[in-house]
Amino acid sequence: MNGPSNSDPRIDQAVVTDDAVVVAHEKLLGKQPDEKARYRLLPLNLLFIFSGLIFFGATYLGRYAGYFDPKVFDETAPKATAAAAAPEDPIEKGKKVYATVCAACHQANGMGLPGAFPPLVESEWVVGSEERLIRIALHGLQGPVKVKGADFNSMMPAAGRVAGSGFNLSDDRIAAVLTYVRQEWGNKAGPITTEKVAEIHGKEGDHKPWTAAELEKLP
Ligand code: HEC
Repeated sequence: MNGPSNSDPRIDQAVVTDDAVVVAHEKLLGKQPDEKARYRLLPLNLLFIFSGLIFFGATYLGRYAGYFDPKVFDETAPKATAAAAAPEDPIEKGKKVYATVCAACHQANGMGLPGAFPPLVESEWVVGSEERLIRIALHGLQGPVKVKGADFNSMMPAAGRVAGSGFNLSDDRIAAVLTYVRQEWGNKAGPITTEKVAEIHGKEGDHKPWTAAELEKLP
């Protein structure tokens, strides 16, 4: 059986040359999917533009969105500043001062501790003379003192803004806490004003802790 020879004119000579084979393969290679191109990075300038927009948007919302509170756009809502400007209730203020300063010794219930800290409940020193009470709170009290018939002989540190005070309470805090103890636990005595505390403070300055005997000579 004899096949056609290479010189047989029925065979297309051009197709089978080496060059033709190379060109044909190159064409096919060009049609391969370009895997890398599908994962090309975001162009840098677009990345900058997008980050800039996100930053601007977040800043804008943070500044003008009013924490997404629906009341922000309610022009009939009561102004928050009015409540903030209202003076703090002296009893509430005094209660806080009492809890942080006085309760450690006189106890939260105002009963003190027998033999150590005298009670403030129904104490003649608390519901009696304003001036004596203010002096005790400002400068402290030392030596023997009788409270509701019981004897104490100890030392209470100064609480006011005076030399040697560990608490440095301003005159208005002293007024608030004294007003509080005069109306709490069934005590019924009038409020103590900041002006009255400032008056005694100005008159006595940095007086050392008082004794009960000294106070009893005063109004
Ligand atoms: C470190 C303990 C201590 C603290 C804090 C303290 N006291 Fe006293 N207080 C005493 C002692 C002790 C006496 C009795 C002093 C004496 O024996 O001479 C006393 C006496 C008093 C008295 C006169 C006696 C009586 O029981 O009524 C009053 C009023 C008083 N304190 C109010 C206050 C107030 C108000 C505060 C807070 C601003 C306060 N004290 C904070 C320990 C303390």
